[in-house]
Amino acid sequence: MGSLAGRVAIITGAGQGIGREHALFFASEGAKVVVNDPGVAVDGSGGDSSLAQRVVDEIRAAGGEAVANTDSVADWQGAQRLIRSAVEAFGDLHVVVNNAGILRNELLLNMSEQEFDTVIAVHLKGTFAVSHWAALYWREQSRAHPQVDRAIVNTSSGSGLHNPLPTEVNYAAAKAGVAAMTIVAAIELQPYHVRVNCIAPSRARTRATVDLPGIGGATQDGQFDPFHPGNVSPVVAYLCMADCPFNGQVFSLHGGTVIRYHGWSLGEEIRSDQRWSIYDLTRAMQTLPNPDPLANLLSALGVLGPEAQEQMRHMIEASLTKER
Ligand SMILES: NC(=O)c1ccc[n+]([C@@H]2O[C@H](COP(=O)([O-])OP(=O)(O)OC[C@H]3O[C@@H](n4cnc5c(N)ncnc54)[C@H](O)[C@@H]3O)[C@@H](O)[C@H]2O)c1
Repeated sequence: MGSLAGRVAIITGAGQGIGREHALFFASEGAKVVVNDPGVAVDGSGGDSSLAQRVVDEIRAAGGEAVANTDSVADWQGAQRLIRSAVEAFGDLHVVVNNAGILRNELLLNMSEQEFDTVIAVHLKGTFAVSHWAALYWREQSRAHPQVDRAIVNTSSGSGLHNPLPTEVNYAAAKAGVAAMTIVAAIELQPYHVRVNCIAPSRARTRATVDLPGIGGATQDGQFDPFHPGNVSPVVAYLCMADCPFNGQVFSLHGGTVIRYHGWSLGEEIRSDQRWSIYDLTRAMQTLPNPDPLANLLSALGVLGPEAQEQMRHMIEASLTKER
């Protein structure tokens, strides 16, 4: 019997990329899957209603159970319809994987209001909207079935957590928000037996990342491909298993590596037993570390050694002054 047998799962943005891998893997592990995807372009424009159905056809051809849904997670009523579609098709809902995502990269100086709002709407509001409607359903269900395990897995990114990339203020803010929302929701939903965890995939090869340097092409048959988007799915499935103990955790995932984030934590301090004068504050603040955020980014990206760091620093700094 599969590890997700009998579980009903919604996977958002499951028409391609990482979400499609989740849908296929969940179905192969016995879950009944709602494949949600309006089939938009990387920047969120357009739409192709056949994309989600194609994944459903693939699952059914392999003997699994799935239905398609093409609502946008950023649409409040659409998110409610998505929850209803799972219950109508399969009689219950156990799992939500918030995976849908878009990119509208631009320097802060050049970014438009719409580019900011659209990215926040899909990642941050979309994760909230789908979780909200699912949680309302689960609260109602918990009265009659208090011991049934329910799970949400959100999708963040290193870009919002430990390697904040230039041109991604919208995306980084949304993804940091998704990680923060995970931890608060994990505490709030505990009384209803709902666990909430979060993953941050790293360098999985999809249409959104295929042009990034070092992402790698497909490997030869039989060789492990650390960039394959499907590497993420077993970890997500594990977090959704009914006996999984994890709650309120954020994990970075690449290839076969799973790293638990420590998240924000309090560091060095200065103290005064009265309101600071500017003079005293200026002196005391000098005792606190002030690491260069760009140096931190280069280390997080694995650019090591003074020469390589200097070269990369020049490249990044040159790109930062580009006007639209
Ligand atoms: N690929 C990586 O290395 C990587 C790294 C960090 C985080 N992520 C995150 O993983 C998730 C999946 O990314 P991917 O690389 O597979 O991207 P992708 O572009 O291949 O797939 C994203 C899917 O989301 C769908 N989508 C977009 N807007 C939607 C909306 N409003 N409602 C429902 N679906 C919508 C798209 O149609 C698309 O099919 C995203 O949240 C992304 O930010 C990916």
